[in-house]
Amino acid sequence: MERKILVIDDDISFRRVLEYNLQEEGHEVFTAASGAEGLAIFDTQQPSLVITDMKMPGMDGLQVLKAVKERSPATLVIIITAFGAVDAAVEAMKLGAYDYITKPFNRDELKLVVNKALQLTGLTEENQKLKSELSEQIDFRNIVGISGAMGKVFDLVRKVANTEATVLITGDSGTGKELVAKAVHALSSRKAAPFVTINCAAIPRDLLESELFGHVKGAFTGAIRDKKGKFQLAAGGTLFLDEVGDLPPELQPKLLRALQERVVEPVGGAAPEKLDVRIVAATNIELEEAISDGKFREDLYYRLSVIPIHLPALRARKEDIPLLIRHFAAKQGCGSVTFAGDVIEALTNYPWPGNVRELENTVERLLIMRQGDTISIGELPDKIRGGRPGENRLVINLPEEGYSLEQLEREIVVEALERNDWNQSSAARFLRIPRHVLIYRMEKYDIIAPEKTH
Ligand SMILES: Nc1ncnc2c1ncn2[C@@H]1O[C@H](COP(=O)(O)OP(=O)(O)OP(=O)(O)O)[C@@H](O)[C@H]1O
Ligand SMILES: [Mg+2]
Repeated sequence: MERKILVIDDDISFRRVLEYNLQEEGHEVFTAASGAEGLAIFDTQQPSLVITDMKMPGMDGLQVLKAVKERSPATLVIIITAFGAVDAAVEAMKLGAYDYITKPFNRDELKLVVNKALQLTGLTEENQKLKSELSEQIDFRNIVGISGAMGKVFDLVRKVANTEATVLITGDSGTGKELVAKAVHALSSRKAAPFVTINCAAIPRDLLESELFGHVKGAFTGAIRDKKGKFQLAAGGTLFLDEVGDLPPELQPKLLRALQERVVEPVGGAAPEKLDVRIVAATNIELEEAISDGKFREDLYYRLSVIPIHLPALRARKEDIPLLIRHFAAKQGCGSVTFAGDVIEALTNYPWPGNVRELENTVERLLIMRQGDTISIGELPDKIRGGRPGENRLVINLPEEGYSLEQLEREIVVEALERNDWNQSSAARFLRIPRHVLIYRMEKYDIIAPEKTH
């Protein structure tokens, strides 16, 4: 079975050797010369396996490993280390690398390690595919949200989906822009035709033009046959221009022309082609700012933002968080796992700089690492739990002769009830315990609400 493999190594000859050997095994291989480039490819291609060199300028192999695991904990990473660098290999395994290979190695060694890894990912991918196919079918409904802000987004998507209008989706990283773009397509009459994505930030500048518009044989060295661009591939369907704010200035007039006249010109080609493509674009940079900096053409901006849809940061729509947690648990096949009340509270109050994507990764990690069927507050990372242990501690002056823990507990329960006007639900929340536990304590210590005493 053909699989996508990403190879990251700063040494070009080594990259070529790996690429050659893996391609010969029938895999689709992507190569990158640095960690940053590799991660950009990772985001668009979602490879099954990442093979990265350890020692590279800029991001090293360990940083690549961490970044890959953050994006997708299930993806396997193999680290290439120099002969004798055992410590580094051990460190990598601790951080979650699947395996390591030491340089120099021969083809058979490589084949063995790679096949072993792919067998494993095959099993998990099969599983996930079955699960995600179920949710893909109901595309729109996999966008979760009950906040007013999301309600507006849903309304807008519903209204514009079946028009030809160009849509510009804005919002910080991880707010769900791609999901919304797919929903626009899925709810349109184009849904049976292709939805094609191009990430304008991830593709090297000199390849972007031909990736977008295609090229004809002989257009440049290496153009050995005609190649269709994303525009042509999206014919009849929707083209999603992701990170459109990063489109280099020299390509902006060409995109503008494609939008205005609905024609594209392949690189090196003579005849412009007429195409029926619906455009949805997304960006997480402030295009107005890019315009005043002279990096983005104003006329192109107006062409793109016929219908603007803005996705607010997750911290601005906290009421969506509990729902998202349940959604992600179900997506992982962990619908029966529960989250303690204070866990939900802490997750709801955390500011989520990485937005929904960061929440999803956190929930995924909590589920993988969980100790039982209820996730409790101690399982949360410190930064989310808020305050390090020791901070925010209650100061209690215990008497010299000692004090009964039960008496102390009784006093705390009474105080919690008093502070909450004897409302049991609020007092239980205040003490971060379930209501039935509070009732049990009240019975145990014979605590009776004042109005019931007479
Ligand atoms: N409202 C939502 N309901 C369910 N899942 C969501 C929602 N918003 C985002 N997600 C999930 O969060 C992750 C990030 O979403 P997406 O890729 O659409 O974000 P993005 O805005 O395109 O991010 P970036 O700017 O980094 O490309 C995805 O796994 C997506 O399924
Ligand atoms: Mg995106």
